[in-house]
Amino acid sequence: MQPLKRPWRDYSGRVSPLKTAVFVALFMPGAWVAYKFATDQLGARPLQEALLEIGQWTLRLVFLALAITPLSRVLVWPRLNLVRRMIGVAAFAYVCTHLTLYTASEAFNLGTVAGEILKRVYLSIGFVALLGLTALAATSTDAMVRRLSPRRWQALHRFVYLIAVLGAWHFFLQTKLDEWEPFVMIGLLAWLLGWRVLAWSFGRRPVPLWSVALLSLAAGPFTALAEALYFNLKMHVPIERVLMADLSLETGLRPAWVVFGIVAAVTVAAFGRAALRRPRLKPA
Ligand code: HEM
Repeated sequence: MQPLKRPWRDYSGRVSPLKTAVFVALFMPGAWVAYKFATDQLGARPLQEALLEIGQWTLRLVFLALAITPLSRVLVWPRLNLVRRMIGVAAFAYVCTHLTLYTASEAFNLGTVAGEILKRVYLSIGFVALLGLTALAATSTDAMVRRLSPRRWQALHRFVYLIAVLGAWHFFLQTKLDEWEPFVMIGLLAWLLGWRVLAWSFGRRPVPLWSVALLSLAAGPFTALAEALYFNLKMHVPIERVLMADLSLETGLRPAWVVFGIVAAVTVAAFGRAALRRPRLKPA
């Protein structure tokens, strides 16, 4: 008899500690927001705050799903792929909650919701991203994976990059004061896209670690430059002033440093893993 397909089991039907841990972890942010909502800890506009927090988690999960393939390859950890689908489906569940909260904030007036989505560009962009996530979730069941050819399935699921770009754009357009997290997202997205370009250019060969290290070195300055350009175009702040502030850390830990810290940690782990895997020469 086929073992029951539970999210915490691997393909052989055994309980997987990795899948179990990720499965439990995926509920945590939602449960935390629900708890704060129930105990009046979300400020004067709890529905709006819950909507924002769930929106942020949706985007973080999309990014995490996107990072699984690069991480599994760079860290030579194929079992990581076992949790990709689970994270993608969780992102879909979170975006549905995000939309439901938005509908609730509009007193469940579906006409108003549809009108706003058509009228406001940032909502139209979010809506397209939502459609994309729906398509990916719908084609993630075992039956759909079997029905679509591997090539078509893969081509469809590459749209997750577009979804991440649209989600980050939706985030960016509506954010009023604090651009900190959107810029972290942009820097990480640049690294993930850069890794895809490397993987594509090296074809079937593994992406060499020196090229991953160069990509990681470029991610921080790229983020700083994107931020400087943004403030220059939006508020006419001289580019060099933003870059100097980034370097001096006088305005706190800037996105460029966070991006650099994350990708540098991944790169160091990859080198460590490679060193451990290198076969030791036996003494003659
Ligand atoms: C029909 C689809 C969607 C609708 C109607 C919608 C609606 C909204 C609304 C009303 C806000 C708050 C804006 C404000 O406070 O002024 C928001 C923020 C946000 N949404 Fe969406 N959204 C949609 C899809 C998405 C998707 C697909 C993602 C992620 C992939 C996403 C991620 C976010 C994020 C990160 C924020 C900002 C949170 C913050 O500023 O702290 N949304 N969305």
